[in-house]
Amino acid sequence: MGFRKGSERLDKALAAQTSLSRRDVHRLLSRGLILVNGVPASGFDTRIDLERDDVIVEGRRVQLKKYSYLMLNKPKGVVSATGDAALPTVLDLVPEELRRSGLFPAGRLDKDTEGFVLITNDGEFAHRILSPRSHVPKVYTVELDKPFSPKTIECFAKGLVIKADKHDNMEGTSECSCLPAQLGPVEDNWQTGRVVIRQGMYHQVKRMFAACGLKVMALKRIQIGGLALDPALEIGKCREITEPERLLLAQDQPAS
Ligand code: URA
Repeated sequence: MGFRKGSERLDKALAAQTSLSRRDVHRLLSRGLILVNGVPASGFDTRIDLERDDVIVEGRRVQLKKYSYLMLNKPKGVVSATGDAALPTVLDLVPEELRRSGLFPAGRLDKDTEGFVLITNDGEFAHRILSPRSHVPKVYTVELDKPFSPKTIECFAKGLVIKADKHDNMEGTSECSCLPAQLGPVEDNWQTGRVVIRQGMYHQVKRMFAACGLKVMALKRIQIGGLALDPALEIGKCREITEPERLLLAQDQPAS
């Protein structure tokens, strides 16, 4: 039969990447309301090249892509999960036109943490961003209960040893070592810090400060890799990440 290389079923792609169900797609196909490269597609088994073919559904061009990368500015009170019985999740904040099947948050922020969450359906890329082996930095701003000191900076830089937590999945150990992290005051205010870490243990930033006798009062992720949270993206809003931005995400050095 010979499928075109890289092709995918049109009904499957539209159902996965738009709010249409496969049944809706079949209905539209029967009515000739889906054009592929200007020609009405008819067969339910029509295949398309996701990267090249031009698809118009009921007069609206649909951008079909295998993978999707979204930047969310997460508010407090929202959980970094794909579903929760009681609380809103980061996926609930993805607008209709950006919804796809298979989206998940690549790395968790605590319920009370704000800021940059990467949402994607590309598991391999997410793994690359999250793996401590990739050294992709995550940058946070933090407000503390009291000022930190040059000694705190030194402890972060050396690599802190923190109390193990059951969420670390490191049974039998009472402590775990953090990779060296950078800490500095923001605008000379030593009660507000900028922290750069390259791993993502449970409550890591909070536990690192706790190990230095400090309590985190507010936490916000402002950058992943070389990509800063878009200052124009309001809290609770989500937008697509462009291809040049996606490449920045995987950089192993923060931009500044
Ligand atoms: N470290 C924390 O303590 N919480 C987060 O949400 C992220 C990093």
